[in-house]
Amino acid sequence: MIIILIGPPGSGKGTQSQRLIDYLETAHLSTGELFREHISSESALGCEAKQFISRGELVPDHVVDSMVAQTLEQPRFADGCLFDGYPRSVPQAEALSQLLNLQQREVTLVLELDVPDSVLVERLLARQRADDTLETIKHRLEVYGAQTRPLLEYYKQRGKLETVDGQGSVDDVFGRIQAVVNQLKTDSSESEESNPSTCSN
Ligand code: AP5
Ligand code: MG
Repeated sequence: MIIILIGPPGSGKGTQSQRLIDYLETAHLSTGELFREHISSESALGCEAKQFISRGELVPDHVVDSMVAQTLEQPRFADGCLFDGYPRSVPQAEALSQLLNLQQREVTLVLELDVPDSVLVERLLARQRADDTLETIKHRLEVYGAQTRPLLEYYKQRGKLETVDGQGSVDDVFGRIQAVVNQLKTDSSESEESNPSTCSN
């Protein structure tokens, strides 16, 4: 399965990813975490990304796409993946689709975590990551609205989008995510039973 978690800053993408990768026994790819690793190792990529991240801007698509393409070559991603924070713009979604097409794969499910802005700001101010100042949080939310929110319509049109209420306890939210994922598994096994492969070898 290839699952994408989409949601504004603070919606719980990282928190829920940790649970979902354990539940599905799949690999996790968080572009935000990859950038933070590059920043702490002071790599050239980290230095380039840092200037955008500290302002709450998106890192340019070509930088993100090539980092993701390289990362996906690792064998642990061969059987599936949970994307957290990628794609984050329609051009990134197109780049991912092309990359997966080359491997005869496609996105299975896009899960949106829906949380109101007031709750997001409260959660992020309590966390205090380097990019969690009030000014940067507000700008990240604007950037989400302008550049990432259009992705919801993009994936809705392709029949991939499921929206989950991201409010309540971490367990409550995970229960909702599990219900969506379990339903998807049931649907796909039923469709395999009613349309068995005709391939003979
Ligand atoms: P990224 O690291 O992806 O940050 P983000 O999208 O701003 O999201 P966060 O990680 O802040 O929040 P989250 O949704 O993961 O929530 P979390 O689980 O941590 O990206 C950082 C930056 O990198 C971007 O701004 C951009 O510059 C760059 N970047 C990354 N990907 C990019 C891309 N594809 N293209 C271009 N640029 C890119 O939870 C937040 C807090 O809330 C935590 O303290 C948590 O404990 C708490 N919490 C979670 N769930 C609950 C709950 N149910 N109840 C109460 N508290 C909760
Ligand atoms: Mg995160």
